[in-house]
Amino acid sequence: MIKAVIFDLDGVLVTTDDLHFEAWKKLGAEIGIHNFTKEDNVRQRGIGRMESLEILLEKTDTVYSEEEKIALAEKKNNYYKASLESLSQKDVLPGALEFLAFLKEHSYPTALGSASKNAPLILEKTGLFDKIDAIACGLDVTRSKPDPQVFLVAADKLGVAYENCLVVEDSDAGIEAAKKGGMYALAVGAVKNNPDADFSADDLSTLDYSILNAD
Ligand code: G6P
Ligand code: MG
Repeated sequence: MIKAVIFDLDGVLVTTDDLHFEAWKKLGAEIGIHNFTKEDNVRQRGIGRMESLEILLEKTDTVYSEEEKIALAEKKNNYYKASLESLSQKDVLPGALEFLAFLKEHSYPTALGSASKNAPLILEKTGLFDKIDAIACGLDVTRSKPDPQVFLVAADKLGVAYENCLVVEDSDAGIEAAKKGGMYALAVGAVKNNPDADFSADDLSTLDYSILNAD
């Protein structure tokens, strides 16, 4: 029985997934990687910053030291943060506000479960901060999805049993994490056909809310 809903951020609540892509592409071009594609970027979804860097670096033979990698990731984050400056409520994805309002009206607690360390800033800028009951993000965890840690922290913050949580995700790593955590999984967007998800939707605007009544 579903009693609470945990949302991924990038690509589920806000459009920031494209901004991540642009920032990685820009960094890549600077280090001679000119063939970084949207498909590569889909694999970066849901996973942490350093793990995402490794996916970019698969496209080069250059070997970077740990220190150099940290500097590269920081550079990407600076590009990404600059692109977040103009972020506002217009960047909230279709159906997200309506679904959050429905959940509040029907007394389902809500949480964020995102790998991003920029999550609090993004929630503030898009006006979502006060619409979600608890936040678990990259600042709370040591292990990246597909490890379930971020969702378990989110459920613990809400005080809801894992088996009663529904996770909304747009990444394969996130669906895997939800299932490993013993939670229900709703796949949206690019991964809506993920066979491990319990439910799917193109986006939150076309979601059939009756999935909340699943056993
Ligand atoms: C989300 C995105 C990933 C990103 C990660 C870390 O999970 O889907 O693509 O790498 O957050 O984000 P950050 O803002 O901390 O670099
Ligand atoms: Mg995502």
